[in-house]
Amino acid sequence: MHPMPTTQDNKLDYQQQIALHLMSAVVLLDDKLAIQYVNPAAEALLLRSAKKLIGIAFHDVFFNDSISDKRLLKILASGQEFTDNEVTLRLSDRSPITVEISASSVEFKNGPHILLEFKQVDQLKQISAETFQLHQWEAARDLIKGLAHEIKNPLGGLRGAAQLLSREITSEQQEYTTMIIDQADRLTNLVDRLLGPNQLAKFKMQNIHQVLEKICQLTQLDHNNQIKIIRDYDPSLPEILIDEDKIQQAILNIVNNAAQAVTHDGEIKFRTRIATNQTINSKLVKLALKISLIDNGPGIPLHLQDTLFYPMVSGRDNGTGLGLSISQTLINQHQGKLSCTSRPGRTEFTILLPITKENNYE
Ligand SMILES: Nc1ncnc2c1ncn2[C@@H]1O[C@H](COP(=O)(O)OP(=O)(O)O)[C@@H](O)[C@H]1O
Ligand SMILES: [Mg+2]
Repeated sequence: MHPMPTTQDNKLDYQQQIALHLMSAVVLLDDKLAIQYVNPAAEALLLRSAKKLIGIAFHDVFFNDSISDKRLLKILASGQEFTDNEVTLRLSDRSPITVEISASSVEFKNGPHILLEFKQVDQLKQISAETFQLHQWEAARDLIKGLAHEIKNPLGGLRGAAQLLSREITSEQQEYTTMIIDQADRLTNLVDRLLGPNQLAKFKMQNIHQVLEKICQLTQLDHNNQIKIIRDYDPSLPEILIDEDKIQQAILNIVNNAAQAVTHDGEIKFRTRIATNQTINSKLVKLALKISLIDNGPGIPLHLQDTLFYPMVSGRDNGTGLGLSISQTLINQHQGKLSCTSRPGRTEFTILLPITKENNYE
């Protein structure tokens, strides 16, 4: 039998657990500015383990002019706390990150210490921008779907009436009813595409490279082998639970755009990798499959970039603007994320598909 924990024990346990699970990085310095404690978020931020960090001088891991030794020591002398909003940190070989730093003094039994708290601002900004984008996209999609439904019903009636009428009239006059029927069919076709994919997904364990190879073949057939496809696959990727047809359609829409955009020296690179600790729809996903489709075309026009995934956004005269919207729907059905970065000469579409326990990945 365990003795009942006291309130004091509970409190200690809470404190330890909270420090372990905090999203912000916490670093404690002694009065010589040597690191005495880091929580796991700080280990992740500074890219070193607690073992390697404890005891070393703070400025051996952290370089920034605005957070000088003098300023930190002043906190101990005067108790003057500070918060710096947008501090850029360059840590080892990683690209710079922007953090908010708060510094305050804390008194312990063995003397005064400085408590530093880091919040990664660019990460927060990116997550909220992504959430906003996704909501906007859903609103646009729902609006168009609603509209498409409203058009579809009377359209059926119109076509039916034209068919009935064609039985009553002379064959010369039938030219007109045929025209009505043809145009109604054309509109129905468009409306169906606006309504988007409506079949339920059929998930199966699949090797993603097999799916990509099919897309390569289709693209080569469509473009008479005019486009160079470069494969950069990670052969160690596990199988993943997907609806093959849907993922194929999602990627094909992206690759078709790339093939239309590139000119004679056109190149499309298919890259696959494992990605860890990604945020997908504001959830942290430990393990994901990352598929990148990179082309060397002219890039996506700037004015399209913010609304690229909305239905009916197109930069081409005869485009419907539905391709990427459909890709987005299909990737969402897989709890994944579709994103894009583009500049002249390099456009990259990235698909993240979470690998979960159900995916049997060890
Ligand atoms: N790889 C790319 N390079 C350049 N522009 C692109 C690329 N992918 C998409 N686009 C732009 O995004 C637009 C929207 O694409 P999409 O939703 O498939 O609709 P559509 O192809 O019918 O125009 C395209 O018209 C094109 O202007
Ligand atoms: Mg397209």
